[in-house]
Amino acid sequence: MKQRKIGDRLVGEIGLGCMGMSWAYGQGATTEDAHGVLNRALELGVNHWDTADLYGAGENEKLIGPVVRERRDEVFLATKFGNVYDKSLTNHQDQVEANVQWIVDGTPEYARRAIDLSLQRLGVDQIDLYYLHRVDPQVPIEETVGAMAEFVTAGKVKHLGISEVSAATIRRANAVHPIAAVQNEFSLWTRDSEEFELPVTKELGIALVPYSPLGRGFLTGEIKSLDDLAPDDWRRSNPRFQGDNLAKNLEIVEQVKTIASKHEATPAQVALAWVLAQGENIAPIPGTKRISRLEENVASAELELSSEELKTLSEILQPEGLRYPEFAMAYAKG
Ligand SMILES: NC(=O)c1ccc[n+]([C@@H]2O[C@H](COP(=O)([O-])OP(=O)(O)OC[C@H]3O[C@@H](n4cnc5c(N)ncnc54)[C@H](OP(=O)(O)O)[C@@H]3O)[C@@H](O)[C@H]2O)c1
Repeated sequence: MKQRKIGDRLVGEIGLGCMGMSWAYGQGATTEDAHGVLNRALELGVNHWDTADLYGAGENEKLIGPVVRERRDEVFLATKFGNVYDKSLTNHQDQVEANVQWIVDGTPEYARRAIDLSLQRLGVDQIDLYYLHRVDPQVPIEETVGAMAEFVTAGKVKHLGISEVSAATIRRANAVHPIAAVQNEFSLWTRDSEEFELPVTKELGIALVPYSPLGRGFLTGEIKSLDDLAPDDWRRSNPRFQGDNLAKNLEIVEQVKTIASKHEATPAQVALAWVLAQGENIAPIPGTKRISRLEENVASAELELSSEELKTLSEILQPEGLRYPEFAMAYAKG
């Protein structure tokens, strides 16, 4: 597979989001299945793996840890902190009473606890890319990144990243310590990083890692109604998957399918090929817990869309509904 650069490392242009193996999208994967996907990923050149301490409250890091340790030199390992699930760890006691799934803590004290817990769960000495998952509105980004820079000095972390951030935050963070990657939601139906954050990452030589590049699975055409989602699937709480919004958003998938059919490709492959075409600094991390879909997604790197098709896709209908439930939107583009 062709490669792209994050910091001083080359990674396969298609990465792997590990979240769904333990969290958010219905039943997770068994350990055996997850490890099968991870090992197949490396065979295919998919060496950029993305997790977070939030996913399954640490379970996702524990799940992938054994394969990471076994094949440490082959994997470019990214994890994140800041979205606090275990509220006993936070400094923000004022937020603990809030009845939400997770809160955000970007204090240096919390960061120092979080890095050691991630290293322990993963069972490694160093994380290749350590992200702040969300900006803490109560803590200047300079303070959080300042603490993260200590981890680089200590050898616990190789590169720093920030997630779900605005262009102004990228500049401020990068002034404290070089930022290797920005992870924002970016796909055919979430385009708001296109105008400001993508140009800033290109200007500063930072990789843009699009999360949910398949629109959380919606752009693949596999989700046609809420009945296609398990009762505990997080997407049921996402406004884009609800009621009239979902019905209207299906029109977007039809537009993607029209282009896919011309290439005998799948809508997932078109969605990923479009993301890859938005810049050489882009390294998406589609998530899957299945080998067949991993292989399908990898093949998207070979799909060449014409400039006319890319333009048609760029002008595609935009979705109805916010991309997160209200409480999480409060932290969007921090
Ligand atoms: N920084 C952040 O705040 C943030 C937020 C969300 C996600 N992320 C990261 O980004 C990664 C990817 O995002 P995501 O998982 O939310 O969304 P995504 O990659 O857009 O879509 C994943 C969903 O699509 C399905 N899928 C994958 N390939 C498919 C294919 N070829 N055909 C049909 N369905 C397919 C998966 O199901 P199966 O698993 O059943 O194949 C899963 O339900 C995550 O794993 C996580 O690491 C980061």
